[in-house]
Amino acid sequence: MSLSTTNSSPRIVVGVAGGIAAYKTIELVRRLVSSGYFVSPVLTPDATRFVGAVTFSALASEPARTSLYGDPTTPIPHTHLGQNADLVVVAPATAHLIARYAMGLADDLLTATLLATRAPVLLCPAMHTEMWEQPSVQENLATLRRRGVLVLEPDVGPLAGGDVGSGRLPDAERIFEIIDNIVRAGQSGPLGGTTVVITAGGTREPIDPVRVITNRSSGKQGYALAEVAARLGARVELVTTVSRSLAVDTQRRITVTAVETASEMHAAVMNLAPTADIVIMAAAVSDFTLTPSSGKIKKTEGVPELHLTPTVDILSELLATRRVDQVIVGFAAETDDVVAHAQAKLQRKPVDLLVMNDVSQEGVGFEHSTNSVTLFTRTGEMRHLPLQSKNDIAYEILTSVSSLLGQGAP
Ligand code: CTP
Repeated sequence: MSLSTTNSSPRIVVGVAGGIAAYKTIELVRRLVSSGYFVSPVLTPDATRFVGAVTFSALASEPARTSLYGDPTTPIPHTHLGQNADLVVVAPATAHLIARYAMGLADDLLTATLLATRAPVLLCPAMHTEMWEQPSVQENLATLRRRGVLVLEPDVGPLAGGDVGSGRLPDAERIFEIIDNIVRAGQSGPLGGTTVVITAGGTREPIDPVRVITNRSSGKQGYALAEVAARLGARVELVTTVSRSLAVDTQRRITVTAVETASEMHAAVMNLAPTADIVIMAAAVSDFTLTPSSGKIKKTEGVPELHLTPTVDILSELLATRRVDQVIVGFAAETDDVVAHAQAKLQRKPVDLLVMNDVSQEGVGFEHSTNSVTLFTRTGEMRHLPLQSKNDIAYEILTSVSSLLGQGAP
């Protein structure tokens, strides 16, 4: 990792609760920053009795925060920090902080940040042995572990006040290594390092300022593909005609380009495709368009005659201009003689993977949250995926895609 941070540097919130071990966290912040992480310190009011916020501000990537209120950079630090984090670490995590987190309290900036994040959370408890061994503390930690929180067991050794026992905060280097491993694992899924262009939704071809020609595509399958690809480590360029919300944990890896017509989608995809490793044409692109009337067509003028012209077939152009190492995926929505039509489409558009929806089936394709598809590869393999969530279908499609990476075009 580089020594300076960039916009794409992993963002770590370092939470500090009120314990004597807080002095070790200063070293952790320094280590993270020098390894290229963007570090945002959050101190509880009690933490500031042990260590100065100024020290953290001087060493971190931005000034330390100590309060829910009065942040000049954002009116909503309680959600902003957690939503943008790649990981939240709390070191030291005191018995009191652990209890508040387990109860879901949000009475200071650190607990609010813990509630507002979907990033991995690593707790590094540190306290006297008697406190560490209390059933209440252990039960709170068990609750948090069940919810997916990672807990680094404290070391055994000298504690404050001359005591010796379990409850010592591990060294900054050890905590750093654990953070580094967690963040790297999140970045290196099966699609780690790849760029995927995904299209979603149905295009809208204007007839006049009020009316459009469109189709029933909801964009749900395209969005599911984008989110699952991001979770598998890809950087995603989503070209879409519909606006849907993205899960917080995938937002930073997905760039959305909003388009409306087939022609706008064509321009956006052809602009992004040259640097993509994978292109997935999940959108329902209109096959026809027309020159729209500048004013609303009035019915008093009689039934209009619409002169339709063909749109550019984006998928065919992608196939004609592809790099040999690209994987290209097409979709086919069919209603009858589905296998024969899909195989014919594969002849016309020799994609690496064709995803066929039989949209005449209940719960399949347009507008549903579920889907059932048949995958056809260029080499003649065919695999049917029974009815399941669009997310699970996305996972299956992307698993097939990742196995095609590196094989090269014919
Ligand atoms: N597609 C495209 N550009 C178009 C039309 C379709 O890129 N102008 C893509 C779709 O995104 C999909 C695939 O081509 O991935 C197949 O689309 P579909 O409409 O099912 O196939 P067509 O070849 O248009 O055939 P038909 O409509 O006759 O079934």
